[in-house]
Amino acid sequence: MFVEVKNLTKKFKVLKGATGRKAEITAVENVSFEIDKGKTLGLVGESGCGKTTTGRMIVKLIEPSGGKIVIEGKDITHMKENEFKPFRRNVQIIFQDPYSSLNPRMTIYDTLKRPLRIFKITKYKDEEKELIMKTLASVGLKPEHMTRYPHEFSGGQRQRIAVARAIITHPNFIVLDEPTSALDVSVQAQIMNLLRNLKNSLSLTYLFISHDLSVVKFISDQIAVMYLGNIVEISTTDEIFRHPLHPYTRLLFQSIPIPNPKKKIKIPQDVGELPSLLNPPKGCPFYSRCPLAKKKCETLKPQLKEVSPGHKVACFLYDED
Ligand SMILES: Nc1ncnc2c1ncn2[C@@H]1O[C@H](COP(=O)(O)OP(=O)(O)O)[C@@H](O)[C@H]1O
Ligand SMILES: [Mg+2]
Repeated sequence: MFVEVKNLTKKFKVLKGATGRKAEITAVENVSFEIDKGKTLGLVGESGCGKTTTGRMIVKLIEPSGGKIVIEGKDITHMKENEFKPFRRNVQIIFQDPYSSLNPRMTIYDTLKRPLRIFKITKYKDEEKELIMKTLASVGLKPEHMTRYPHEFSGGQRQRIAVARAIITHPNFIVLDEPTSALDVSVQAQIMNLLRNLKNSLSLTYLFISHDLSVVKFISDQIAVMYLGNIVEISTTDEIFRHPLHPYTRLLFQSIPIPNPKKKIKIPQDVGELPSLLNPPKGCPFYSRCPLAKKKCETLKPQLKEVSPGHKVACFLYDED
């Protein structure tokens, strides 16, 4: 196992309503998954379901409230910054917005030089420059781009720069948090191709976060579907596209015909509002929107259970009774 996440949980303190009363929300709840070396896990779900919070915990930008994160056999969950530093270069993150993730006052050269200096990756200036040029070339940028500033680039080019910054330390694992969502549709495919090619040529392991299933399908070996802080279904990409089981997954896959006639369901277009994390459902998180909900779903929370090899779903529909 390359990356292992077990019962990862994040609670946030928030102020509630007009009164400003203190409250706590659980943004991520007992999330568990594993990613093998060189593989990609796609994490998919609608806005606010906890994808970014999960990704940020794994790269230690925020502290988990519970659970553990093991990378390459090392439990990094409670490592202090100085202890984590040797891992930091191995574990990178690429953010959604290439407009705010690059320092506007730094040239591309300086942006790429920084991680090299921090992690003492190159010894000599020539070596440093050579690695920066090589890395820029590998993301489809030119040597003359080195002296320019972020504002001189398009969104797609900026995301290429962010990718260069992430791979220049030779990481093994990268969290990609909706890396193409802020880009024009015409540019998205180019960046996706770049990311897939880099993954293959550099044997990278990815956690690929997106609200867009078609994007996740393109790059993932496995897919985990998140809803209201919980993973409701996880399986290989092929299997989940062929046999989506959770009613929420089917809602996401709406255009895809469901092969198993016994379990045929129809989900209405109008599925209502996402419940508030301030007033979370007691039972199944999907209860309020589920067209197949039973009485017990209101009060009992289904746990993730393996229903066929490697295919887990948290739904009472698949209980053997
Ligand atoms: N720092 C924070 N303080 C309070 N609530 C937060 C914070 N960060 C995220 N949240 C809340 O946690 C939930 C999950 O957010 P997020 O992980 O960003 O979801 P996603 O990336 O799937 O859109 C949301 O309800 C969001 O408002
Ligand atoms: Mg997000």
